[in-house]
Amino acid sequence: MSKQKKTFENREKPKLLVLHGPNLNLLGTREPEYYGRVTLEDINLGLARRAELAGIALETFQSNHEGALIERVHVALQQGVRYLIINPAGYTHTSIALRDALAGTGIPFVEVHLSNIFAREDFRQHSYFSDLALGVISGLGHQGYLLALEYLLNKINTD
Ligand code: DQA
Repeated sequence: MSKQKKTFENREKPKLLVLHGPNLNLLGTREPEYYGRVTLEDINLGLARRAELAGIALETFQSNHEGALIERVHVALQQGVRYLIINPAGYTHTSIALRDALAGTGIPFVEVHLSNIFAREDFRQHSYFSDLALGVISGLGHQGYLLALEYLLNKINTD
C-alpha cells in the first residue's frame, strides 16, 4: 500500500450528530397528519446510509429528557462533532437551556421540523433555536433531515 493511501485512510472522518427531541420516538404512529408515517428508525437508517456513502461518521440520538439532550451536546463538543442536525421537537418552543447548550458549545447546526411550524398554533411559531441556526427546514416531512444532511455534506467539502 502506498504511503499516500495510508495517510488518507488514517485521516479521521468528519463527525455529524443528529439530535431528536421528545416524542419523536413515536414517529410512524404519532399524529401522522403532521408528522407522516415514517418511523424514527427509518429516518436514522436513511441518514446513516447517506453518511456512509459520503465517508462521514454520523451518530443519532433521541431523548425525551431535556438534560440528556443537553449532555449529548456537551459530549459532541468533546468528540469534535463538526455539525449538528437537531429537531428539538417540543423543546423548540420552551428550552432556553438546550439553546444555551448549542450557543455555549458553538457547534453549528441546522434546525429541522417535520411539520411546518409556521402554519400551526401560535405557540409553535416561536423557536428558541432559529436565530442561532445555520438554517431551518420546516414542513418537508422526513425529507427535511436528508436535505439538511445534503447541505452539511456540501459544506464539509467546501469548508
Ligand atoms: C416538531 C414541531 C414541534 O412543534 C412539535 O412539538 C414536535 C415536532 C416537528 O418536527 O414538526 O414535537 O418539531
